[in-house]
Amino acid sequence: MDVSSVSGDLVEVLYTEDQIQGRLKELAEQIRADYEGEDLLLVGVLRGAVMVMADLARHLDRHVEIDWMAVSSYGSGTKSSGVVRILKDLDTDLSGRHVLVVDEIIDTGLTISWLVANLSSRGPASVEIATLLRKPEAQTMPVEARYVGWDIPNEFVVGYGLDYDERYRNLRDIATLAPHIYS
Ligand code: IMP
Ligand code: MG
Repeated sequence: MDVSSVSGDLVEVLYTEDQIQGRLKELAEQIRADYEGEDLLLVGVLRGAVMVMADLARHLDRHVEIDWMAVSSYGSGTKSSGVVRILKDLDTDLSGRHVLVVDEIIDTGLTISWLVANLSSRGPASVEIATLLRKPEAQTMPVEARYVGWDIPNEFVVGYGLDYDERYRNLRDIATLAPHIYS
């Protein structure tokens, strides 16, 4: 879906489809260099990371395995609930594996820090994080993401996998949502 189809719902476009692809290509090159000679398992966090995973993985010029987890920390609103639950676990045994968690956004950091702790307890060789977006002002849980697309202000954004109430995930660009939609 193009921004023009829902322009009344949005304040501004933060990153276009082209900008996102350009940045993911750079991150993929860093990842390729850092994991040279190692096996690599990408773990995507459903559902928001679907687009990032699809594009990041295709920019990676090497073999990777892909698996998925679904966790919930948000209800249908815009605030973190503080409760993380596994809705779908991995099918892959992590022992001895280099794991790169692929996410679309780190907001409070609650979900990803819980996830990293959970995955780390399964005996992997390493666990690192790649996220397209990060909101440094919102972060309450300290978590080190090795690969970050962009740091953004503490505003609610949608598109490119990011939803509000399960909508706007299929927006091509990333945009800030107009407050009248969620207030
Ligand atoms: P955290 O636990 O607060 O870091 O947030 C975890 C999840 O909340 C993210 O993976 C997203 O699914 C969702 N989220 C946080 N900020 C936004 C936003 O601005 N737009 C859409 N979803 C968001
Ligand atoms: Mg998410």
